[in-house]
Amino acid sequence: MSLKTIYWENNRCMLIDQTLLPGEFKELEIKTAEAMVEAIKMLRVRGAPAIGIAAAFGIYLGIKDSSAQTGEIFQDEVRKVAALITSARPTAVNLFWAADRINALVASHTKSSVSGLKSMVLAEADQIIDEDTAICNKLGDYGAALLKNGCTVLTHCNAGGLATASYGTALAPVYKAKEQGKTIHVFADETRPLLQGARLTSWECMRNGIDVTLICDNMAASVMAKGWIDLVIVGTDRVAANGDFANKIGTYGVALLARAHKIPFYVAAPFSSIDTAIKTGREIPIEERDPEEVACGFGKRTAPNGVKIYNPAFDVTPAQYVTGFITERGILNPPF
Ligand code: MRU
Repeated sequence: MSLKTIYWENNRCMLIDQTLLPGEFKELEIKTAEAMVEAIKMLRVRGAPAIGIAAAFGIYLGIKDSSAQTGEIFQDEVRKVAALITSARPTAVNLFWAADRINALVASHTKSSVSGLKSMVLAEADQIIDEDTAICNKLGDYGAALLKNGCTVLTHCNAGGLATASYGTALAPVYKAKEQGKTIHVFADETRPLLQGARLTSWECMRNGIDVTLICDNMAASVMAKGWIDLVIVGTDRVAANGDFANKIGTYGVALLARAHKIPFYVAAPFSSIDTAIKTGREIPIEERDPEEVACGFGKRTAPNGVKIYNPAFDVTPAQYVTGFITERGILNPPF
């Protein structure tokens, strides 16, 4: 996987501006916590694991020039920047997980020097990238065992390399199976309204030599009925303890369709996406986004001015529709 979605270099965070894909490949230099919040809100960086990494670097950007005199004052500053960063998006638990991790690290070393604490925060962010890379590998290995040579996987949204530091989650099994010499076909739902499937999944699959077919979201039932889909794999932004999970709006419908057509439905998720503090999916906060994304996506108005619009970015799929969770610890079933 040659794609570097997000990384640290020369005192700033570099990330691919995913709003410009597939037309333009451009890396952004993020130099402040505020710029990181903007990048997360606008989906320049997106996908649950990637925004966890962005949160860690965002916190470092917010405190790297701190003039705090004591560890306690510094800890307070870290907490404030972490709160700013986590206000960017509510659904992906990885954002909160990464911020909690940095807060806890600093809280347990308040007797260290402030410069030492700053280095620790940056090292922790780098460590999150390394861990995510290893996790994607493991998800890929476990998931690839489910994929027979010649099979076809349907996915929704983008849970590939662009959403993580490495192979992705839902696409990791596909990439790994390819490395093992298997031929795997992917059907990518275009994923209204922001077209992560069309713009990102089909782009990265083609770039990585995966045979991908793009369909509109409303074509999934039809291709399943034709017998073209062997397996569905999606990513997730947050899994509740009972296995209900949030993912890009439309995922619930895909799960129902898979059940109706007796197609196995898997969720690929790092443990950092499992929120054991939440018992069921009803408690997962669902982000609602600007109605203009539906009415005027990509510069063309496709709905009358003033029409009422509901634009939730995610939905919750009940655990009963999930065949298994592909995690770094193997293929698991709830409760978690
Ligand atoms: O709004 P997005 O593009 O951040 O939504 C992303 C998804 O829904 C992904 O499927 C999820 O974050 C898992 S990414 C490995």
